[in-house]
Amino acid sequence: MKDKVGILVSEVLYSRIKRKAFTHENIAFYEQAGDQYGVSLCYLRLADLIPGHKFVKALVPTEKDNYIQIKIEKPRVIHNRMLGTTGMDKRKFTLLKKEGVSFFNEITRYSKLDIYNKLISDAKLAKHQPDTMPVTKENLQVMMKKHKQLIIKPDLGTLGSGVSKLTRESERTWTLDDGRSRQAFSIKAVWPKKLEDLCTVGGYIVQEKIPLAAFYGSAFDIRAAVQKDINGEWQVTGLVGKAAGKGKFVTNVARGGRCYSLEMILEDCDLDKEKVKLSLEELALHVAHVLDHHIPSLADIGLDIGLTSEGFPMFIECNGRDQRYSFKEAGLLEVWKMTYFHPIGYARWLLNQSE
Ligand SMILES: Nc1ncnc2c1ncn2[C@@H]1O[C@H](COP(=O)(O)OP(=O)(O)OP(=O)(O)O)[C@@H](O)[C@H]1O
Ligand SMILES: [Mg+2]
Repeated sequence: MKDKVGILVSEVLYSRIKRKAFTHENIAFYEQAGDQYGVSLCYLRLADLIPGHKFVKALVPTEKDNYIQIKIEKPRVIHNRMLGTTGMDKRKFTLLKKEGVSFFNEITRYSKLDIYNKLISDAKLAKHQPDTMPVTKENLQVMMKKHKQLIIKPDLGTLGSGVSKLTRESERTWTLDDGRSRQAFSIKAVWPKKLEDLCTVGGYIVQEKIPLAAFYGSAFDIRAAVQKDINGEWQVTGLVGKAAGKGKFVTNVARGGRCYSLEMILEDCDLDKEKVKLSLEELALHVAHVLDHHIPSLADIGLDIGLTSEGFPMFIECNGRDQRYSFKEAGLLEVWKMTYFHPIGYARWLLNQSE
């Protein structure tokens, strides 16, 4: 009998798989990867995984292109695709690991400030990160002295929502742009209420704005899928460009961003494409290796990397549950498929290690 690999999904995704409703996750790719690597797939909810129980309720694909919910023996390897976990979930993971279940990507949601602090101690990475601080009134004043443009964003990601931009217009005047409206203010006078609120509410960071290169007038950044594979090694599965929607300064697809292949997005830049690709891959791999020392069972990340007009790559953020569909949006269907194949290859590698 084939070894089983579990994909731990949210309640919502579980129910959509069961009903065969549309999902952004291309579940069929996991199953094709299972055929390639000699494992069978099942989909699990955390609520059904009970420490001490040998069996678990799971969704299993049938030959008739359907899914049945049955009790199966707990898989030994589980790929976590849930976003965020509570303290109780973490305790459950700990108990299940003690029973011999291996999870990978156990933690999928990271504090941006935490990641910044982890990466800044690496000599090579220091110059590839924008200056960053937690938002307080004092820190904003420090950052406004040092930089002409700043980004304020939630420390825990929200698909580009809640991101604001501060721009110095003259020595004393700044504008705050929250993506919906702009407000000018004098640094010495009363600050806009929105900005004052950001200083007191907590959970926000302020960052030097990276002067992002543009694709026909729209700022863009790059999503890099970095994953462990059948050899248990990190590799860059793919790179894809995300250009901001008209008049926007965030590139998130959820905020109107559009995806293009790297070749296409670099079309409007006077840069050596091969050199840029290599430097993006090098940075992405280095970030993955450094984070691997800090985050347990890390094996699948989606990095946002900005590119200056000189082609210098700057790390923006790390996603622990990459939605992967940027590759589909850009028409990079083979890369999109590989973002599902590598985690299953890695699951195979983990199974081989424990045999
Ligand atoms: N320092 C920066 N300089 C320039 N642009 C930035 C900077 N920080 C963020 N942005 C823009 O805003 C977008 C959203 O920011 P970021 O990726 O850090 O958070 P998020 O996407 O909201 O978080 P998550 O992906 O976890 O939901 C980036 O893709 C980029 O286009
Ligand atoms: Mg992002």
